[in-house]
Amino acid sequence: MDQTSSAGKPFLSDVKTLRARARQHISEGAVTPAYKGDVKQTIAVLQTVLATEIVCVLRYTAHAIAATGISSEAVKKEFAEHAREEQEHMNAVAERINQLGGKPDFNPEGLATRSASQYGEGENLVDMIKENLIAERIAVEHYRELVRYFGDDDITTRVMLEGILGVEEEHANDMHDLLVAHQGRPMLPSD
Ligand SMILES: [Fe+2]
Ligand SMILES: [Fe+2]
Repeated sequence: MDQTSSAGKPFLSDVKTLRARARQHISEGAVTPAYKGDVKQTIAVLQTVLATEIVCVLRYTAHAIAATGISSEAVKKEFAEHAREEQEHMNAVAERINQLGGKPDFNPEGLATRSASQYGEGENLVDMIKENLIAERIAVEHYRELVRYFGDDDITTRVMLEGILGVEEEHANDMHDLLVAHQGRPMLPSD
């Protein structure tokens, strides 16, 4: 697949690293059977989710503002709507961390390295849509894994993540449709 933006800059070339980073905490050990004593592990996983959502808020907000021109109006609206929804996710995850006795990590320092998604600016409208599509696909993949990971051991966290997952799937779908509309063809699955 073409991973190069129109300006010739590498386009999200490090998806593998992002995926590895997303899995880091869950690979450190199962949440069961010691879950009751290991809320720390859940909080660590949720801090990654929080960072991912913050990066998504920033990226969509930047894109909503950068997308200009008559043909971009619909895209701009979609980006802005996604930014709002990512902010809802951000708040829900932060609330959950707080409920578990943790302190939601909003520190901008190190944010990009805590996140499983990337802050890609995109050189043009199609690049922006692609950046978002890839970020959404990583989020969907990551959250599916987390839903399985929490299973019946932390139902509240799992149900929250299932809700977020459903919205991320819609986001990925929206970005896919926009890409087809603006580029005329879908992007091949990334690997
Ligand atoms: Fe989100
Ligand atoms: Fe999303």
